Amino acid sequence: MKQINTRKYGQVKPERKIGEGNFRTCYTVAGYDDVCVKLVKSDFTLGRRMQAFLLHRQTNKQEFARYLNLPNEIKPYFNPIIEAERHYSITTMPRDYDGSYSRSVFSHGKVSNPHFWQEVDKLYHYLLEHNLWYFDVLNGKNMFIRKESVHKWFPVIVDYKRLGPKGFPWQVHLWLRSEKRKKMARKYAKLLRRHKLA
Ligand SMILES: Nc1ncnc2c1ncn2[C@@H]1O[C@H](COP(=O)(O)OP(=O)(O)OP(=O)(O)O)[C@@H](O)[C@H]1O
Ligand SMILES: [Mg+2]
Repeated sequence: MKQINTRKYGQVKPERKIGEGNFRTCYTVAGYDDVCVKLVKSDFTLGRRMQAFLLHRQTNKQEFARYLNLPNEIKPYFNPIIEAERHYSITTMPRDYDGSYSRSVFSHGKVSNPHFWQEVDKLYHYLLEHNLWYFDVLNGKNMFIRKESVHKWFPVIVDYKRLGPKGFPWQVHLWLRSEKRKKMARKYAKLLRRHKLA
């Protein structure tokens, strides 16, 4: 894997692949065990590539700007981004109270921790009330579980590019606030259905 030039860390060597989404691949960084580097993929499908071309050339930078401007009430739910450029971003890796790396909701499968679901609910309602249409937040692969103690689990969002209506301009119906609320509600219901153990 070829090295990349970063501002804060100098030359960085992506080491081991730890995850992958549609847009980016996430790697550990040689010599630093608290951060990971996300590289923007180049092997998009045509549809994705069009979407990326039209709207997401600045995705990483926009996500970084979003992090810096998050309201204090919900900032703790978002995993810090340290720096971002068009082709990469560097973020911290959440860890549990025992020092192990936190894992995604998806990798846990069913989650029964009440504190965790209370916090997810708070985040969801805050986003709705403030018209923050972060559709990709309510997704088991983008949401990690940071265990602060045996019983106190906390949601941490590792991907908040907001592929909202701006990301899908051809979905004209999403221009309406009521439609955006509906879409958020559907995403939330799906998250609960898939991962909440009552
Ligand atoms: N900070 C992190 N710490 C540990 N693993 C991470 C972190 N960020 C991302 N990952 C892992 O890498 C995967 C891909 O990262 P990310 O979700 O940012 O990529 P993406 O391509 O933007 O996603 P999407 O397909 O949702 O658009 C995540 O699903 C997760 O498993
Ligand atoms: Mg993702």
